[in-house]
Amino acid sequence: MRIYSVKNYDEMSRKAANIVSAQIILKPDCVLGLATGSTPEGLYRQLIEWYQKGDLDFAQVRSVNLDEYKGLSPENEQSYHYYMNKNLFNGINIKPENTHLPDGMAKDEEKECLRYDRVVKMMGGVDLQILGLGENGHIGFNEPCENFAKGTHCIRLTDSTITANARFFENADMVPKYAFSVGIRTIMMAKKILLVVSGKAKAHALYQTLFGPINPRVPSSILQLHPDVTIVADKDALSHIDRKDDKSGDIYFY
Ligand code: F6R
Repeated sequence: MRIYSVKNYDEMSRKAANIVSAQIILKPDCVLGLATGSTPEGLYRQLIEWYQKGDLDFAQVRSVNLDEYKGLSPENEQSYHYYMNKNLFNGINIKPENTHLPDGMAKDEEKECLRYDRVVKMMGGVDLQILGLGENGHIGFNEPCENFAKGTHCIRLTDSTITANARFFENADMVPKYAFSVGIRTIMMAKKILLVVSGKAKAHALYQTLFGPINPRVPSSILQLHPDVTIVADKDALSHIDRKDDKSGDIYFY
């Protein structure tokens, strides 16, 4: 694992955008795994800026998002479809038909999960998976539980996730209770993973991700087994981490 320790949110966003840009330049028709939430907003803003300057081209890029709330249509301002259009897709030249998210309005959950897994498979898997980190260690909406979920599934969000996400809604009661999320298998099969983390509220989860036991109670801990993970984290997010915690010497700090 590589950890880039940066000063603050803006530096995290720029550094992460550099890594995503390198991927697009290296493989113009790459498949990007995309996350929503507040952490990648700055990274997306930076990508839009570089696209508008003519430094990046998304014409052949394909994307697959991690998750979507159940029951929210793409027109709903709280949906992740809406978020992606607003925060990234409308600002770049990615082709709408090359972007994919789970269908939050799907009536048949099981069918939708299978369809989404097929979409990812037909794209040849993910080249670079961007991840945010939940305060409880969730990645995508793989919430803490007894077993790692393999494929796309529809999950009941934990109370802590509902509370954390209430800031995007009028109140916590408005947060959908269920969401579709790709499984741990899809995330772990990505060729490269880029985890972006900012703020003190994530410090404990980040420590557990790196040094805790690999356990579905902290879903992000599975990343310890992935061969190509880059973490860009700010000082606050890294505040529980001491380089000496890495007894194995597997983590490279920059
Ligand atoms: C969103 C997602 C979630 C978020 C996580 C952190 O697509 O998959 O795992 O990355 O909840 O959210 P923020 O960045 O809002 O703290």
